[in-house]
Amino acid sequence: MSRLIDRSFLTEAKKNKKDEFYTQRVDIDRELQYYEGQFKGRTVYCNTDHPKKSNFVRYFLDNFTRLGLRRLIATGYAVDGSNCGTYFSYTGNPDELVAWKNDELTLLQGNGDFRSDECVALLRESDIIVTNPPYSLLREFVGCIESFNKDFLIIATVNAITYKEIFRLIHAGKIWLGVGLGRDISGFIVPDHYELYGTEARLNDRGERIVSTNNSLWLTNLDSERRHQDIPLVKTYSANEADYPHYDNLDGINVNKTKDIPSDWFGLMGVPITFLHKHNPAQFEIVGFRKGNDGKDLRINGKAPYFRIIIRRREER
Ligand SMILES: C[S@@+](CC[C@H](N)C(=O)[O-])C[C@H]1O[C@@H](n2cnc3c(N)ncnc32)[C@H](O)[C@@H]1O
Repeated sequence: MSRLIDRSFLTEAKKNKKDEFYTQRVDIDRELQYYEGQFKGRTVYCNTDHPKKSNFVRYFLDNFTRLGLRRLIATGYAVDGSNCGTYFSYTGNPDELVAWKNDELTLLQGNGDFRSDECVALLRESDIIVTNPPYSLLREFVGCIESFNKDFLIIATVNAITYKEIFRLIHAGKIWLGVGLGRDISGFIVPDHYELYGTEARLNDRGERIVSTNNSLWLTNLDSERRHQDIPLVKTYSANEADYPHYDNLDGINVNKTKDIPSDWFGLMGVPITFLHKHNPAQFEIVGFRKGNDGKDLRINGKAPYFRIIIRRREER
């Protein structure tokens, strides 16, 4: 690695039209507050984060001492693929911070792809990966972190839950949803040349262009209080049987809204994927996804409802 003055991030985002969505600081602060006790003495790696552009990097620099971090590492991807990626490491040494402030970033040998040998070597040195990775590579990204048994907290799309590889890990209780979902992630900063479209786009108070997607969530394997809170069960199956039709191809009932999960049903239930946002593994067991006993999509009177997660209430506690 060599140290150079690097300001390429200013043009990088311009070149890459589609993938450059940057996370807002406000959204990072909002989620990170739930895990603060879990960073002490540990190395955080932001591995899809330009060291000067990323608000994840700023968050960890600002909170380095308070969180008790051992080290912060960030690597940024050279979007056009031909340049070198950027690298930054901070261990609390003031000289490192001065270099960061002066844009004196170290260049990687390669383009900063999180799968490259040099980035994987940094991953091995780290304890927790915190970032918003490229969505198109999410399966690979999570697979990579998983294969090295690292802790992580990342942003993904709601749709990611339905990926076979991701749901397998959720099913196995190895990963789960963080606290923020949908509108809790208020929007992403996009480069100036992005067109502002619809009512979902705006300028924030720093003049940055924000696109609000309402389809993002946090995925993690860090524990939080939220996943130990029971979903309040206020409805009953008994006396409301018509609201809970049985599936044609599974011995279980369909529940259209998480808040309507009945308190007196201990068999299988199909619930919407947003259930995972409220899931307490001590209260419910995740049994499967989408498919009935015949291996086909769950059906009610021949019709398939939306994607359903199949769950079962744990025995009364
Ligand atoms: C959704 S953006 C988020 C950027 C930044 N992590 C943040 O939260 O502000 C995903 C970033 O991943 C970068 N990227 C794309 N492919 C990559 C790869 N193979 N390895 C590392 N980073 C990649 C993109 O350039 C882009 O900046």
